[in-house]
Amino acid sequence: MRILVTGASGMLGREVVESARRAAHEVDALDHHSLDITDDVAVRDVLDTHRPDLIVNCAAFTAVDRCEADPDLAFAVNATGPRHLAAGARSVGARLVHVSTDYVFDGTKVGPYTEHDLPNPQSVYGASKRAGELEVLKLGPDGLVVRTAWTFGRHGANMVKTVLAARSSTSPLRFVHDQVGSPTSAADLSGLLIDLATAAASGVIHAANQGSVSWYEFVGEILRQCGDDPGRVEPIRTVDLDPPRAARRPANSVLTSVRLADYALRGLRPYESALGEVLAELSNG
Ligand SMILES: NC(=O)c1ccc[n+]([C@@H]2O[C@H](COP(=O)([O-])OP(=O)(O)OC[C@H]3O[C@@H](n4cnc5c(N)ncnc54)[C@H](OP(=O)(O)O)[C@@H]3O)[C@@H](O)[C@H]2O)c1
Repeated sequence: MRILVTGASGMLGREVVESARRAAHEVDALDHHSLDITDDVAVRDVLDTHRPDLIVNCAAFTAVDRCEADPDLAFAVNATGPRHLAAGARSVGARLVHVSTDYVFDGTKVGPYTEHDLPNPQSVYGASKRAGELEVLKLGPDGLVVRTAWTFGRHGANMVKTVLAARSSTSPLRFVHDQVGSPTSAADLSGLLIDLATAAASGVIHAANQGSVSWYEFVGEILRQCGDDPGRVEPIRTVDLDPPRAARRPANSVLTSVRLADYALRGLRPYESALGEVLAELSNG
């Protein structure tokens, strides 16, 4: 397959490019500089030039708190951008895989969210991502929305790297214990995205590593796997964050899938094992 990846220099984009190349696909990796997805003319030109069979959209405005201050930009990148990609996919006959987020949910459910649960975003980021999902779903069988959560990996800024950087500091480590989610390896996710695309999956699918932890517990596990004392991290409540965050986060955004089985695909492994692999890769430089 010829695969065009947008947002190709982001945390997930880089892994998707590597996974697709490993699976012997021909890959056009376009970073923000090479293609701004908010520019409909540029999107059309690029797709006309590359004529991909599949587009994987990893481009997004992901700074959750900054989205509150700049909703126009959030909606331009996270909703209008996917609309342009969907129109372009239709015109060149490509399929579109679009990555979305657990933050489309309000977090009030008891238990993990499945694909059948109704979104109810509580932040500008979540609302803009939900609007982007709806644009892609208009493609019908040629569109796939993959929701993931709490992504970590070798590339880009993420919680694992934050904790590694904070290990040598003497200041206390405080993380919230009242937001629970599904930490997910960008590398594991990228492999599943390629498998889902190959299986011509459509609609909405949840893809997250197994496990459900608070940020406090996630940080404790990172420290434990680094050989540090997990007791170093202290639990706090979201209301005690100083400064407070601009965007509301769901208290529960654990994801599970009831649809992967439709495509004879297995869910991702437990997050602890994926975390161990990422820590080993980071320590090997
Ligand atoms: N990170 C998480 O915890 C998480 C959780 C759930 C879902 N997701 C979803 O996963 C997907 C990938 O995110 P990520 O974690 O890889 O984030 P990321 O590292 O911030 O990557 C996003 C990429 O999109 C690029 N971008 C921004 N605006 C663009 C535009 N107008 N046109 C083209 N590219 C643009 C960014 O480039 P610049 O940096 O150069 O602007 C960046 O390389 C997103 O859809 C996100 O919503 C992420």
